[in-house]
Amino acid sequence: MARILITSAIPYINGVKHLGNLVGSQLPADLYARYVRARGHEVLFLCATDEHGTPAELAAAKAGMEVAEYCARMHRVQARLAQGFRLSFDHFGRSSSPQNHRLTQHFAGRLAENGYIEEVTERQVYSVADGRFLPDRYIEGTCPNCGYEKARGDQCENCTKQLDPTDLIDPRSAISGSTDLEVRQTKHLYLRQSLLKDRLDAWIDGQTGWPILTTSIAKKWLHDGDGLQDRGITRDLDWGVPVKKGDADWPGMEGKVFYVWFDAPIEYIACAAEWAEAQGLGEAAWRRWWRTDEGADDVRYVQFMGKDNVPFHTLSFPATIMGSGEPWKLVDYIKSFNYLTYDGGQFSTSQGRGVFMDQALELLPSDYWRWWLLANAPESGDAEFTWEKFQAGVNKDLADVLGNFVSRVTKFCRAKFGEEVPAGGEMSAAGRALVGELTERLAAYTAHMEAIEVRKAAAELRAVWVAGNEFLQGAAPWTTIKEDRDRAAADIRLALNLVHLYAVISEPFLPDAAARLLEALRTDRRDWPDDLGAALEALPPGHGFVTPETLFAKIDDATRDEWASRFAGTRAA
Ligand code: MF3
Ligand code: ZN
Repeated sequence: MARILITSAIPYINGVKHLGNLVGSQLPADLYARYVRARGHEVLFLCATDEHGTPAELAAAKAGMEVAEYCARMHRVQARLAQGFRLSFDHFGRSSSPQNHRLTQHFAGRLAENGYIEEVTERQVYSVADGRFLPDRYIEGTCPNCGYEKARGDQCENCTKQLDPTDLIDPRSAISGSTDLEVRQTKHLYLRQSLLKDRLDAWIDGQTGWPILTTSIAKKWLHDGDGLQDRGITRDLDWGVPVKKGDADWPGMEGKVFYVWFDAPIEYIACAAEWAEAQGLGEAAWRRWWRTDEGADDVRYVQFMGKDNVPFHTLSFPATIMGSGEPWKLVDYIKSFNYLTYDGGQFSTSQGRGVFMDQALELLPSDYWRWWLLANAPESGDAEFTWEKFQAGVNKDLADVLGNFVSRVTKFCRAKFGEEVPAGGEMSAAGRALVGELTERLAAYTAHMEAIEVRKAAAELRAVWVAGNEFLQGAAPWTTIKEDRDRAAADIRLALNLVHLYAVISEPFLPDAAARLLEALRTDRRDWPDDLGAALEALPPGHGFVTPETLFAKIDDATRDEWASRFAGTRAA
């Protein structure tokens, strides 16, 4: 038994996430967490909302709410949706927690003591009317490129050109509209990650078996162009972690907060502390997951994220940890994902394009989405969601293969033998052939789950379901029962045990269906079928069951078309 720490990239607070976000991090993390728990490992699975930065402030302003109140509300919304998708976090924290404030300030203090922070004086736009420095996004004006009048200081939304605030024509404050702007001097902190370049490089070289997507992105940032750049880690915002050196004030940094990407990954640690507090446990309970001098040296730490997050997790956050000079746990394995596209284009939060988590659950229960998304996870390249593909996957895999098998076996048994596992007979040749095939397929499935090869695991699981149908078709108990009742009984006994096996091994993908099957089969046995022979005798002769309701409904063409047109447009953000 091992101890496995699992984190999913923490979703931004500003709005409900779409299915592309979900499959890029939280959902595969949940798949893995459920799998390793089922194997009996000790698991701590953490996620949180990423609550700081300009997007949070702007979204709150748009909603007409105080940012703290907005974040509290959106945290509840995201937590409820996570439950709806059965994401089995041990804790769903908040990057605005007191724990994260303390830890972020602690890390900054340690980095400063060790010489990894540089104070840089810069010239920045100051709004006299607002009495504050303005971050780039808080300055609006006319785009010099296309003439769009509401271009932001960092980028023009209309022509997508990257801008500098001083490029804007007729610049004004996005907060008050005031044009009384000046360029003034101000101080910012930079994380000197370039000093850690060689250590980071060696650390990444020392990792074996990381996905190519992960290492290639990290290497590109380390070596391309001018190499690893130092990074500004402070901002002029009200909302965020105030800049401090541990507990002490930081002269010259009054009114500034840490940049959201500095404090967000530290929330992985803080979230463990939040979890311990919520559980009524002491400090040692979470530190044994995070401090290698307090027990975490035997923890395996696995992170999940979309590819755009890789540089922060392979370079910046490790630089924060290394630069602290303290024995915090570094990640052991980074699983990263490409993008899921929507109907030929991109899922887009700002444009409301695609299907969002709340909308998805209004259409269908979570298992349908979990299955399709995971079976089509954008692992080796981008993947595309279309309503045709979704319909085909659900109807074929879930309804025709898995659902149909369960229904045929249980209904046939109820009609001919009653609702209990029938006695009599010996395993048939068809049964022995099935066991042979399953032995190999289960080994492959388990290996893919261990390696977090999500699509391959799904394909193998589907093949295991198909094997059951083929066995049933070949054994044809509805025919043999007329001549040889014992033979039919033995085949159906095997098939009922197969239903149980499916419930156990499908649980990471389909937690609700698995729970329903175990309930129908009146058993709590969920041990992984390492010994297939024993697993296929888990339900002995005479064991009672209840014939379950239809597991999965098919999506008909009219419904599919209706959904496709309903989601063709965009929704208000
Ligand atoms: N909020 C970021 C995103 O959705 C992810 C932050 S992950 C963490 O892209 F490392 F910062 F925690
Ligand atoms: Zn423009």
